[in-house]
Amino acid sequence: MVTNTEQLEREAIEFLEIVYQELGKPNAELETRLQDVKMQIAETGYYDHTFEELEHGAKIAWRNSNKCIGRLFWNSLTVFDERKAEKEDEVLKALRHHITFATNSGKIRPTITIFKPSRGKKDCLRIWNHQLIRYAGYETEHGIIGDPASIDLTRECEKLGWRGEGTHFDILPLIIQRNDHNPKLFSLEKEYILEIPITHPDIEGFNDLHVKWYGVPIISDMVLEIGGILYSAAPFNGWYMETEIGARNLADTFRYNLLPKVASIMNLDKRTHATLWKDRALVELNVAVLHSFKTAGVSIVDHHTAAQQFKLFEQNERTSSRELTGDWTWLIPPVSPATTHIFHQSYKNKVVKPNYFYQKCPY
Ligand code: ARG
Repeated sequence: MVTNTEQLEREAIEFLEIVYQELGKPNAELETRLQDVKMQIAETGYYDHTFEELEHGAKIAWRNSNKCIGRLFWNSLTVFDERKAEKEDEVLKALRHHITFATNSGKIRPTITIFKPSRGKKDCLRIWNHQLIRYAGYETEHGIIGDPASIDLTRECEKLGWRGEGTHFDILPLIIQRNDHNPKLFSLEKEYILEIPITHPDIEGFNDLHVKWYGVPIISDMVLEIGGILYSAAPFNGWYMETEIGARNLADTFRYNLLPKVASIMNLDKRTHATLWKDRALVELNVAVLHSFKTAGVSIVDHHTAAQQFKLFEQNERTSSRELTGDWTWLIPPVSPATTHIFHQSYKNKVVKPNYFYQKCPY
């Protein structure tokens, strides 16, 4: 029978060998470190990463993220070590700092903040939000207001005493839960949050939609696994690719569902699919997102440039003799996929660790 400690030791060794090799460290250093880690595991059932291991582990986890088209930049990730943050208000302070640093007045910096690892159900920090910044969603008798994807979390916030203004774009508060304590709710001050009004460079009337989006997508509900250690709270961000907003968040029928409105503004004939009104509205919505972010001086990438960057990543991985893994269904952009090389290729969707994983929803 394989015990948990045996499993942890195996994962630790495998990880440390890779990191020390990639960082060009001498073998003697690896050997010493392996002895040390084995002892820690034998004595406590866990081991602590050095900052260097943590930093490089988080970067490798990005590099191994099969769904991500933005992986060319894996090695430029800024890693904040917040393993010492214990109380909820210490966590909150670190999250505020993450938002400010990553936002950087629009010149977005890929960033991760890593909190203390989980040591079982009773010793586990969780951020309930899917992203640190996201809009609330309300089910009302007149239909849904805001982001339908946030309805459940919004209800949890209300249970904890929060009341949103009831607009389509209310920023959700943060919910932080320590161990088996009651979750605590904190509102983010507006000055921390960069938002961009979505306007179109030449379609009259587009601005009457009064759409906006936030600048920095900071995923906060995934677990970062490094060398067998589980970081259950480790929010991370890059910058947006325009299709995430223009072809999904604002366009999906089960999200903001704006294509019919955009098509009306464009005077397209919606009575038949054959006018391709959805496609034409979709493209202009994506044009608007790119135009708006650029005008506001906020980092964003279009899907053609992102695909080119991903091609460079593929070449780099080949040069470094690493096996390239990827999830084709996620890597192809939702707009004009066949105009990118990704569409015409296949990728091996094998899970390599370190990596970021989904974890059970805490509510
Ligand atoms: N697709 C998600 C959203 O629209 C964000 C996922 C992460 N995206 C990124 N570019 N790092 O909010």
